[in-house]
Amino acid sequence: MAHICSDVCEIHYSALLKVFLPFNEQRNVMRKQRNWERQLAAKKSKRKDEKQRRKLNRMNGSNPQFTKRVMKAITRERLAEAQSTGPKLCVDLSMTDSMSDKEISRLAGQLRRLYGSNRRATRPFHLFLTELRQNGRLYQECLRMNDGFLNYMITEESFLDIFPLEMVVYLTPDAEEVLETVHADKVYILGGLVDESIQKKLSFSRARELNVHTARLPIDEYMVKKNNVKNFHSKILAVNQVFDILRTFCDTRSWTEALQAWFPQGKGYVVPSAIPSPSEIMCKL
Ligand SMILES: C[S@@+](CC[C@H](N)C(=O)[O-])C[C@H]1O[C@@H](n2cnc3c(N)ncnc32)[C@H](O)[C@@H]1O
Repeated sequence: MAHICSDVCEIHYSALLKVFLPFNEQRNVMRKQRNWERQLAAKKSKRKDEKQRRKLNRMNGSNPQFTKRVMKAITRERLAEAQSTGPKLCVDLSMTDSMSDKEISRLAGQLRRLYGSNRRATRPFHLFLTELRQNGRLYQECLRMNDGFLNYMITEESFLDIFPLEMVVYLTPDAEEVLETVHADKVYILGGLVDESIQKKLSFSRARELNVHTARLPIDEYMVKKNNVKNFHSKILAVNQVFDILRTFCDTRSWTEALQAWFPQGKGYVVPSAIPSPSEIMCKL
């Protein structure tokens, strides 16, 4: 009934436009209406995704029956436990010289989100920031932006000074090999880079230079390209986004779930189960 009414209204509306407006203006009004409808549909789908994301976070994360104080104690205990048994992740901050001040600031924000996400995790990682020069631009920006930054595990040493070569897996979107799982006895390295001035293959070249093993997220294996207006498709994510995918994979052991929850919508890829089938679309109509 509601459909019939809105269809009838739409017919009346376009008939009225034809009577009262010249052709050019009719076209503009119709275009604006189409844009508005598109925005509305995008908002609706974003709300749905957010809801699903929150549900997943609730399942993995905080327990509402605990008070703030108890939650804090649990978090502290989990983080301490992660230092001995958690999977290890380093952000390699040796490449910050090639970044603009704006990129440095964005990286500091991404590191803050990564640490925040780790604090909320049921099974946190043991995190390291390597080759972070004290008094460098990033250090100063992190001090300014990130509460508790001095409690982070920071070192001026390279990850290879801390871990044996055979333990290291450098994650880079340009690797040929795919990351199949996350092992507790490996250490995963993320390149501390922000891609505004798109410096291609920087982390891949660095890993090659150091002769360390590389791997990429299994995007091709679990996702498909999604049509979009700009025909934009990118598999390059921010460090905190990669971290959220790894963390959720560790909790669920499912790449489908991890990618579905955290792969950013605007990157033009989607997990096939998230695409409604033609029959689902018909049901919604
Ligand atoms: C913004 S990306 C940097 C991309 C940059 N052009 C480069 O040289 O790799 C920051 C870091 O996130 C990680 N990363 C981003 N997307 C990834 C993917 N699809 N697979 C594996 N690692 C990824 C890598 O460690 C990368 O260095």
